[in-house]
Amino acid sequence: MSDDLRQKIEDAIAEPKNLGEMQNADAVGTAGSADCGDMLRMWIKFREEDGKKVIDRATFQTFGCETAIAVASLATQLIQGKTPEEAMAMDGQALSAELGPLPPMRIHCAQLVEGALRQALGGAALTPAKISAPAAAPANAPTLMDSFSPAKDGAQKTVRVILKPKTEQ
Ligand code: FES
Repeated sequence: MSDDLRQKIEDAIAEPKNLGEMQNADAVGTAGSADCGDMLRMWIKFREEDGKKVIDRATFQTFGCETAIAVASLATQLIQGKTPEEAMAMDGQALSAELGPLPPMRIHCAQLVEGALRQALGGAALTPAKISAPAAAPANAPTLMDSFSPAKDGAQKTVRVILKPKTEQ
């Protein structure tokens, strides 16, 4: 990972934006990565603007790495004001563009964000990543913690837990 990318990720996670569950969300999507076992959930609230439905705001929670947190923080800002169709046209690369190119082993981190976004918006993933809505993680579970289940083989996994109190309504 380049120093520039590392610095951008550190800046983004120093004060991640839109972190936390959203009580009155209109849509929620959860994605898990088959590559690393991390999970990410995104909540979305819509509003009407000039007769169009646009994304008013989005929030996220994740058991994920710093790259996923940084991309989710940027993505939730990036999709504000976009129509669902415009947001669905964005893949992981577009959502993480502000960070610059991600190294190959971090591309799935951005695809995790894309997966949660697209599940919330009801679309299929653009990128052919091994990203899915985890079977053990119903998208409507109250929090990401509620839907988290340990690996079936009982293996312990170290995860970075980013859970914060509910965001402002
Ligand atoms: Fe899996 Fe980043 S290492 S989301």
